[in-house]
Amino acid sequence: DKGNYRHFMVKEIWEQPEVVGRTVAHYLDASANRFQFPELGAIDFANLQRLTICACGTAYLAGYVARYWFERLARLPVDIDVASEFRYREAPMTPGGLALFISQSGETADTLASLRYARSQGQSILSVVNVTTSTIARESDAVAPTFAGPEIGVASTKAFTCQLSVLLSLAVYAGRQRGVLSEAEEARIADLMMGLPGQFSEALKLEHDIEQMSRDLSRARDVLYLGRGPAFPLALEGALKLKEISYIHAEGYAAGELKHGPIALVDEDMPVIVIAPRDELMDKTVSNIQEVAARGGRIILIGDGDAVRQTGLDNVAALTMPDIDPVVAPIVYAAPIQLLAYHVAVFMGKDVDQPRNLAKSVTVE
Ligand code: M6R
Repeated sequence: DKGNYRHFMVKEIWEQPEVVGRTVAHYLDASANRFQFPELGAIDFANLQRLTICACGTAYLAGYVARYWFERLARLPVDIDVASEFRYREAPMTPGGLALFISQSGETADTLASLRYARSQGQSILSVVNVTTSTIARESDAVAPTFAGPEIGVASTKAFTCQLSVLLSLAVYAGRQRGVLSEAEEARIADLMMGLPGQFSEALKLEHDIEQMSRDLSRARDVLYLGRGPAFPLALEGALKLKEISYIHAEGYAAGELKHGPIALVDEDMPVIVIAPRDELMDKTVSNIQEVAARGGRIILIGDGDAVRQTGLDNVAALTMPDIDPVVAPIVYAAPIQLLAYHVAVFMGKDVDQPRNLAKSVTVE
């Protein structure tokens, strides 16, 4: 039931404050400001040598954001690949590692085949799924569910932010088990995560501005998304979301790769969407924006007030985000990129819930 919403996708976008809150609440012992994962059973991060993350599409991009968290917060070496490559790569794996599979449906054929491969290589299997009765859940040693509720729109939105919420909680938990994250830092991140529903709601207030922008964007033939650090996989996610529902060609790039090729594409016709949360990389991203501007590029900046001021440019269209701590920023910055794709597609009259050629769950390879 779509309620008062025009499409499932936008309903699911607006459900995020609630379902992210519910997911965080499940893994957070709020009285102690600590994360807990009784679901993990015998899986232990303390002596783990390597984490392998594997998934498809948006779930893969959630894993890609999580790589930054596991490396930084838990000092854990992480490998990540799309399941359709991983399953045939015959990657040698040292027995005793942990393999993490992320899937909304829990039925994605390539992800399941990768899981079976990892098991044959002596890995423990952990999955983050939305459907706990799924095949991937059943074949895992441990399951850490997302609590997104049924996701109907083909474009994944609330499943993504719930996956991110579980993965950040897990990275913090791993950091504690490995003795590299202080109690104070864990408590600080716990507070930030409890604030996520409020911050996400703030970000959703940009909807009106985004709708205004979408008219102009709908005329573009190609769109480039840029980001650094965890905002890089978000740039990939922004491009994926836009192309799958609006059919506009979009590409995500690491901002630092700009001068290694894609800058050649920049002209006054190609919108460049820059995702620049306030973190230690923001200055570098801002200088990439200036490079794009110097070549006449049309920039849409998604960042907080500081980023917008720092560019010192007038011809930048800005979506000004609330001030957000860098640790949780990837979750909140999903809001504007989802809304942008949605409104562009709606403006173009596309069937956003059932885009052509796509299935909600890809159970064949
Ligand atoms: O059910 P899964 O999470 O395993 O699905 C993975 C992808 O097929 C899925 O995320 C797909 O990329 C979405 N249509 C993206 O919006």
